[in-house]
Amino acid sequence: MIYDSTYVISESSTTAAMPQGVMMLNKNGLEIAVNPGEISLAEKNSQLSPAEQSSQIFKAPLKEPLKEPLKSTPQSLPEVTAKSELDINPSPAANDSPISFKLDLLELDSGQIAEIAAKPTISILGLGYVGAVSAACFSHRGHSVIGVDPDVEKIATLNRGESPIVEEGLADLLDNARRVGRLEAICEPRKAVMESDITMVCVGTPAGPDGECDLKYLRMAAEQIGSALAVKDDYHVVVFRSTVPPKTTRDILIPILEKASGKFSGRDFGVCFNPEFLRESSAIKDFYEPPKTVIGAVDQRSSAAVAELYKGLSGELIETTIEAAEFVKYIDNTWHGLKVGFGNEVGRLCKAMGVDSHQVMNIFVKDTKLNLSPYYLRPGFAFGGSCLPKDTRGIMNLAADNSVSTPLIDSILNSNDRHIEHALSMITACKVKRIGIVGLTFKAHTDDMRESPLLELVRQLRERGHDIRYFDPNVASEDLLKMGVERQLSYSRCLNIEQLVNTTDMLVVGHNTDYGRGAAHLAEGFMPVVDLVGLGNSFKYAKNCQGICW
Ligand SMILES: NC(=O)c1ccc[n+]([C@@H]2O[C@H](COP(=O)([O-])OP(=O)(O)OC[C@H]3O[C@@H](n4cnc5c(N)ncnc54)[C@H](O)[C@@H]3O)[C@@H](O)[C@H]2O)c1
Repeated sequence: MIYDSTYVISESSTTAAMPQGVMMLNKNGLEIAVNPGEISLAEKNSQLSPAEQSSQIFKAPLKEPLKEPLKSTPQSLPEVTAKSELDINPSPAANDSPISFKLDLLELDSGQIAEIAAKPTISILGLGYVGAVSAACFSHRGHSVIGVDPDVEKIATLNRGESPIVEEGLADLLDNARRVGRLEAICEPRKAVMESDITMVCVGTPAGPDGECDLKYLRMAAEQIGSALAVKDDYHVVVFRSTVPPKTTRDILIPILEKASGKFSGRDFGVCFNPEFLRESSAIKDFYEPPKTVIGAVDQRSSAAVAELYKGLSGELIETTIEAAEFVKYIDNTWHGLKVGFGNEVGRLCKAMGVDSHQVMNIFVKDTKLNLSPYYLRPGFAFGGSCLPKDTRGIMNLAADNSVSTPLIDSILNSNDRHIEHALSMITACKVKRIGIVGLTFKAHTDDMRESPLLELVRQLRERGHDIRYFDPNVASEDLLKMGVERQLSYSRCLNIEQLVNTTDMLVVGHNTDYGRGAAHLAEGFMPVVDLVGLGNSFKYAKNCQGICW
């Protein structure tokens, strides 16, 4: 097909990225805005790479504008010959993207050719499981993709439109991406960076000999990208997708990029960390229906550029810090491992006791209020009360009686005790004798003190010679005496938070209540405060206030 001319299609409202907006369609049938003064004669050379095609622009005067302007809704788009049948999920127009776009070509069924803003070209370093799936899916969404890998076999496989891995649906997507000219695979990272707008890094991060994350491939990739950026004038966004420990991007990869390029991230080029949540065997589906999309970025411009790539996909899009984006992937996987281990321990115990494990767990997972929910998952203080410790101990006994090994379940109470110890060491590190504690019951708004971790904390502090005073509206001195708590502690009750703060030199807040926050406000600024409950950001960043795990 010879593409020989370019036409204005319709007038449209002005957009930020392209001030004199004219609506046109790209070859994927997506509407974009272009400047009417810049309408160009376009020629397509089928020998060119996708990146080269999108950067080929030949200026020429307008021929004949269409008489009927096109409507702006996707439903009203005309049939486009070059449109791939695979474009099942067209994203909205790219005209509000924070990076500037090259022009692309469009053939309308009338035979007219429009030249339009192309979606950003993406280079992908590392064509393993994550990289190959990303390459196929981003091509499918209308991006030109340049894949890079040092493995020449992989390159040849991809360039034949075949899949380098076993993954349902991937071979078809790659084959189509090649056929419509939106995917090429090469071995030269520099060329790929020069010819793309965004580089995604999907190289492996295997475990080293001691279990640490081996960053050698990532370091090499950052070096290669940096040296290309050194000679590239256009703004470029580097997106790290490989799983890494928090701070890797900021402390290791950005310095490599900056050194190799002689440029500054956030100013001369963008950097994001965008973890991948796909599961092998359902990777394509997971790409289109991710549980979430997380983007950590050095600046808003690069974050917005990456967010644009995922526009229209399901799942919440979360823009956050680079470190949170890095860590959440590790935490997700550990949580998944924990869930599998827990389910299997329950299964072993059920089998040993003649109970149907699937029946039990099917009921368990139905509870999305307490079991599969954010409840009990926010970092805070240790658990206690009349049920959790007792019943965990009960399950441990059942497992022992039935000779079932349940190391995960056995570790729960131990983990809880370590958390109390952690609070203890934070408090004793303040080297203060008189300590005020807000809350004694195992949680606020109850008078139940059975197995209260706050009471255990007080006991251990008193053992170390500290003077403890407490305020808890639901605990009377007699209650403590009835529980066998020493008379000295039972007499140390304060009638209000003012009395507590005025008679002690440090405050420990164990209840997240009005009186807990009130006491912290009174203490703020002149005595140390240890927050066990997450009082909020105003305390989180206060100078003399420390959170137990934030
Ligand atoms: N496999 C998964 O299901 C999955 C899911 C989410 C995240 N991750 C993470 O994504 C990353 C990649 O995982 P994977 O399973 O795709 O790895 P992989 O080992 O399958 O592929 C990595 C590829 O990177 C290539 N490579 C190495 N150095 C390169 C360089 N400098 N330039 C270009 N290519 C280079 C290798 O040749 C290889 O083909 C890892 O950090 C992994 O933890 C994997």
